[in-house]
Amino acid sequence: MFTQKPIIMAPMAGLSDRPFRRLCRSFGADLAVSEMISAKGLVYGDRKSRILLAPDESDQPHWVQLFGSEPEIIRDAAQIALEAGADLIDINMGCPVKKVVKTGAGAALLRDPERAEAIMRALNRAPTIPYTIKIRSGWDNKQVILDLFIEMAATHNAKALTCHPRTATMMFSGRADWHQLADAARNAALPIIGSGDLNDPQTAIKALTIPGLNGIMLGRGSLGRPWFFQEIKELLLERIGWSPDPELKRKTILKHGKLLCEEYGEKTGLLLYRKHLAWYSKGLTNAATFRKRLFTLTSFTELESTIHELFPDPA
Ligand SMILES: Cc1cc2nc3c(=O)[nH]c(=O)nc-3n(C[C@H](O)[C@H](O)[C@H](O)COP(=O)(O)O)c2cc1C
Repeated sequence: MFTQKPIIMAPMAGLSDRPFRRLCRSFGADLAVSEMISAKGLVYGDRKSRILLAPDESDQPHWVQLFGSEPEIIRDAAQIALEAGADLIDINMGCPVKKVVKTGAGAALLRDPERAEAIMRALNRAPTIPYTIKIRSGWDNKQVILDLFIEMAATHNAKALTCHPRTATMMFSGRADWHQLADAARNAALPIIGSGDLNDPQTAIKALTIPGLNGIMLGRGSLGRPWFFQEIKELLLERIGWSPDPELKRKTILKHGKLLCEEYGEKTGLLLYRKHLAWYSKGLTNAATFRKRLFTLTSFTELESTIHELFPDPA
């Protein structure tokens, strides 16, 4: 799975749902990770967690992210996910959001390496679960955990480790420390994937050349820009400056709305579509007016004509 350097769509709660995964995969994302799903939710039969688990037709392989703090619950949840069609399980050890951290999950595990290791051990117990780990570079800059987590993940046979090299206390402030990640990746005994601030094709390609780094993950840079993956791949083929023409943009944006309405029903689909449309229209001269209009529209058909206006056919 990690033989070439894949360009991966990052897990993003509330965003990397089936419709957006399908769009990003259609533009060349080599892999995609699901939104994070509560391990406890799956084990206790929570309906919403089960819905999040279902694969999209593009999820090949189907890489499901779980969060939790109890090794046996995570193992049981991973088994449920595998039975439901997952091929690979990612364990979230990096989410800094209070709601998650206060349960001992996500980035709280960076402060509790013994528990993190117990989770890895539980997943590696026979019959073993194919799994990966996703971390930040530490809880805060007082405590360096990167080498330790890489070593633990390798010892317990994780398939790969993704790191977003910001500390948890930084949330999204400052910058991702790619030097720190490059140092750690150099001698790692398992594939390392880097994530953070890869917002243009040149920066993404530079990250792909880091020795010891086996892949990159794109998150915020793909919002309103699912074609970002293709932009990188075109540049890798030396097709400099490729970007989708207005027709392809329009078609993609409309397809996104259609997929959201199919997935969630028109009412919820359109609500979710709004935030994506705000990203799609970012930077356009008439974006503000467009957004105002957007909030008055209640059907997909009405939206279609507005989107045609925003992305007109070339004259
Ligand atoms: C809105 C949002 C939701 C996220 N949700 C998750 C998540 O569920 N699991 C996870 O491991 N990381 C999550 N992340 C972190 C991303 O996967 C990624 O590592 C981080 O945003 C850095 O990459 P970027 O600069 O390309 O966005 C989220 C990030 C954002 C912005």
